[in-house]
Amino acid sequence: MIQEKIQDALNNQVAAEFYSAHLYLSMSSYLESIDLPGAANWMRIQYREELAHAEKIFDFVIERDGRAILEGFDAPPREWSSALGVFQAAYEHEQKVTAMIEKLVELARELKDYATEVFLQWFISEQVEEEASVKAIVQQLKLVAESKNGRFMIDRELASRTFAPSSGA
Ligand code: FEO
Repeated sequence: MIQEKIQDALNNQVAAEFYSAHLYLSMSSYLESIDLPGAANWMRIQYREELAHAEKIFDFVIERDGRAILEGFDAPPREWSSALGVFQAAYEHEQKVTAMIEKLVELARELKDYATEVFLQWFISEQVEEEASVKAIVQQLKLVAESKNGRFMIDRELASRTFAPSSGA
């Protein structure tokens, strides 16, 4: 049976993943409001990935004979300054999530919970990918700056992202 301390920490991470999901859905809504449907699609896919992350941890707690508990979630922000502002905020958010996952790994090590440590390896790799993909979009948006054509091209590219369940779960 999973130790209570790591169970609580994993339940907190479930809440953090749901918060990430809501944050990205809110960003998707903002991007729709500034006429960037492709970028909104990208964030909508990100929302689904975060839901899959939350469920993956939720299921792991149950599999270890623990109790998965859902707490209340804070409302995400609803306004940003621009598309660049959105993706910069997403990048900063992912860096925070990476730090949270690293803390979980440290706790698992401290408690000699090897099963949780191995389970978290998937999230360590996922965070490398998540940070890199958001950062690439930030860089593209910086490059095009105020160019409407550039923004249109990026938006068209972001429209092509689809949800692949295996990448999120
Ligand atoms: Fe679930 Fe974007 O980390």
